[in-house]
Amino acid sequence: MPGKSQKQDASSRLYDSAEIYGWISILLHWTTTIIVIALWFIGMSILDAPSEEANEWRQLHISIAASAWLLIFFRIIWRLRSGHPHVRGQSVFIHRVARFAHYGMLSFLAVMLLSGPLLVWSSGKQISAFDVLVISGPFGESETLRSFAWLLHSNASLFLFVLILLHIGGALKHLMFHTDETIIRMIWPGRQNKPVAEE
Ligand code: HEM
Ligand code: HEM
Repeated sequence: MPGKSQKQDASSRLYDSAEIYGWISILLHWTTTIIVIALWFIGMSILDAPSEEANEWRQLHISIAASAWLLIFFRIIWRLRSGHPHVRGQSVFIHRVARFAHYGMLSFLAVMLLSGPLLVWSSGKQISAFDVLVISGPFGESETLRSFAWLLHSNASLFLFVLILLHIGGALKHLMFHTDETIIRMIWPGRQNKPVAEE
């Protein structure tokens, strides 16, 4: 069983280890969760609203997405570089399924990050983040590119949505029906240090 000092060490760690998410991963997970869910709902509001209102939703969506672009990009690279901590006592099969779903979400996020700016620029517009940062496209208006970017953006948003629902469902299932610490380890590092026999 880990000693007190080991627990303290784990709870202040920044980086991931083989079984623990560090603070950087935890903060990245929850900040980007809030942003991505907000972007998704604002994105859907663009489709549902009358045209005046849709323009406002679109501008808000682009402003938030552009402001958070680097953070979400960094979050994807961070996971690829940090590997994937294992839940102690979890079977290899379940670990692989979870890892597959996590990398699936990150892949669709990457598609959103690339297709979003393409969608704006190919419509002949500039990306504006709350009118503070304005980024012009490296190419002009193009209907072919716009349709392609739209296809990618709308399909990836759908697949991402389904995976997020399954992911949240899986997390809630662990919370309600399992005694392992799958959820707490994404909230506080080092809470997964109990040996399996104690669970
Ligand atoms: C990274 C997370 C993102 C998520 C979850 C997201 C989600 C969505 C959703 C759900 C829609 C509704 C239409 C559809 O199904 O495609 C949408 C539309 C849109 N998104 Fe995103 N998006 C993201 C990133 C971006 C970025 C980085 C940009 C550009 C800087 C962008 C620009 C747009 C634009 C312009 C539309 C409106 C298309 C139209 O005119 O109807 N999005 N987004
Ligand atoms: C209320 C919403 C959410 C809950 C309760 C939740 C819960 C969790 C938990 C418990 C883990 C650790 C699982 C493990 O490794 O065993 C995790 C990891 C992960 N989650 Fe979520 N999650 C939520 C939303 C999201 C969203 C919206 C995304 C995608 C945009 C996402 C993407 C990921 C990824 C990629 C991982 C792997 C570790 C990492 O890179 O952060 N999660 N989540």
